[in-house]
Amino acid sequence: MSATDRQAHWQNVYTSKGENEVSWFQDRPAISLEFIAAAKVRPDAAIIDIGGGASRLVDALLDDGYSNLAVLDLSEAALASSRARIGPRAEAVKWMAADVTTWQPSGQYDVWHDRAAFHFLTEETDRQAYVSRLKTALRDGGQAIIGTFALDGPERCSGLPVKRYDAAGLAAVLGPRFRLLANRVEEHRTPWDAPQLFQFSRFSFTRA
Ligand SMILES: C[S@@+](CC[C@H](N)C(=O)[O-])C[C@H]1O[C@@H](n2cnc3c(N)ncnc32)[C@H](O)[C@@H]1O
Repeated sequence: MSATDRQAHWQNVYTSKGENEVSWFQDRPAISLEFIAAAKVRPDAAIIDIGGGASRLVDALLDDGYSNLAVLDLSEAALASSRARIGPRAEAVKWMAADVTTWQPSGQYDVWHDRAAFHFLTEETDRQAYVSRLKTALRDGGQAIIGTFALDGPERCSGLPVKRYDAAGLAAVLGPRFRLLANRVEEHRTPWDAPQLFQFSRFSFTRA
């Protein structure tokens, strides 16, 4: 899928479906919040949600007192929908409409979170581009939290093929500078109550 088609696909999803008409909707992203809390960063730590879409994670992080948040997504419509939901507090968040595989990070982050974006990268070149940006954007000692469909999770999401992982498979893609700290398989229930197995892994990063 070309970068243009990818962007058009996701823009169409977020302009044609309501928040809880998509399979990945969560009222409260509990495991993401738990893994971010386990990273034990300060409230002013820089946290970025990659492929954040219209997720309520950013609302919950603001509620928890985190003050240095960024959300990156291909879809402007997804970001606009989150901004509208959050209201004036959205001004404190950095919103970036970009493709993570071509994005040029300008800052450094203490925590990189991704739920269900990385698994759409089915081409090796895209995965390498993602990992390269992850290594540039994460500060030395920072943590990466990545949630994907598990090995026995669905083969497609939003009509697109995905690549499924366990912690070892994800660690192999990220490379030796990432050390696995925690891993959990979670059953997500879609808004229409279909089970989907995810895996979440938390890694620490050492620059050199
Ligand atoms: C399945 S949704 C998950 C959204 C959100 N993380 C959540 O848990 O609700 C996947 C998201 O990744 C975004 N996405 C997919 N490929 C991307 C890419 N290459 N760069 C940035 N965002 C991407 C999509 O626009 C979409 O919002």
